[in-house]
Amino acid sequence: MRTPRFAAPDYPPTVGEKVRVRAPGKINLALNVGSKEPSGYHELATVFLSVDLYEDVTVTLTEELGISITINPASQAQQAATVTPLGEDNLVAKAARALDSNGLLDLFGLHIDITKNVPIAGGMAGGSADAAATLVACDYLWRLGHSREHLISVARELGADVPFCLVGGLALGVGRGDQLSPILSRSYTHWVLMFSSKGFSTPDMFAMLDRLREADGEDVGPPEISHELLSALNHGDVEEIAAYLHNDLQRPAVYLDASLVGKIDFAEVLGALRVIISGSGPTLAGLVESEDAAHLLASDLIEQGFDAVHVTGPVSGATIIATY
Ligand code: C5P
Repeated sequence: MRTPRFAAPDYPPTVGEKVRVRAPGKINLALNVGSKEPSGYHELATVFLSVDLYEDVTVTLTEELGISITINPASQAQQAATVTPLGEDNLVAKAARALDSNGLLDLFGLHIDITKNVPIAGGMAGGSADAAATLVACDYLWRLGHSREHLISVARELGADVPFCLVGGLALGVGRGDQLSPILSRSYTHWVLMFSSKGFSTPDMFAMLDRLREADGEDVGPPEISHELLSALNHGDVEEIAAYLHNDLQRPAVYLDASLVGKIDFAEVLGALRVIISGSGPTLAGLVESEDAAHLLASDLIEQGFDAVHVTGPVSGATIIATY
């Protein structure tokens, strides 16, 4: 998380005041899943990369109490409504409430407007990015001035990916994926994302992995990140990085949607060094050797009827981009 460019104003919070926060989606370069803990979460060892596909979250202080949420564009709003309601159960509303230890929500309402670019239920932490952006927005609007560590601790209560969406960059995640340490990266990597029209449920993917492992009588040890991947990232050697990309959730993902295998092969034939499932899928992330190669692959895939886009990372986590 960068030092904020926008210091909180020295006047009290005022109705009509607005802040816009941009938070990136992520892909996982490695996602190693251990066994299920009594909490229902799985122990993870993962490498997160934030990419320049952003959620823009604009939060306004309103006179009317309560939290209202809008999502645009309209097509995304329809899909979002099938995944998560736009009321108090929405993760952004929970984020605002979690940060409000001073009772600011008894003085002002909030309107949270989300412009979605990260696919819904696509394995790229779009909902977690919205929650991270809301924490940063409320911290500013309510003049809380919380430390980065405090925001991370609140983020952790909201979901396993929310801390990373706050911090961004390239990071190792252990525990539930919420205990982060930055990884030194020498360069940007270029990726082509391929979206699916239908999303996956993250809990379903973890549950399916457990079932597949049980059926195979697989022994599940503690998850570890390969040293080869970390060393490749350190060197910035893209071919070596490609060789060590790994995602345990790929197995349940292709089990649920076998057409993903064909898409992966197709993108690799067209020039991706490696293609893997992003997070719990079904978005696919193809690593390519350069920006030019990414443009070429994305346009070839689009020509072939796929929904594809070129992204790059690492980029910063949730950041204020405008105040009104
Ligand atoms: O933390 P979050 O709400 O994003 O997680 C969604 C679901 O994904 C969890 O309820 C759990 O089923 C699964 N999950 C898991 N282990 C993790 C992270 C997520 O089993 N480390």
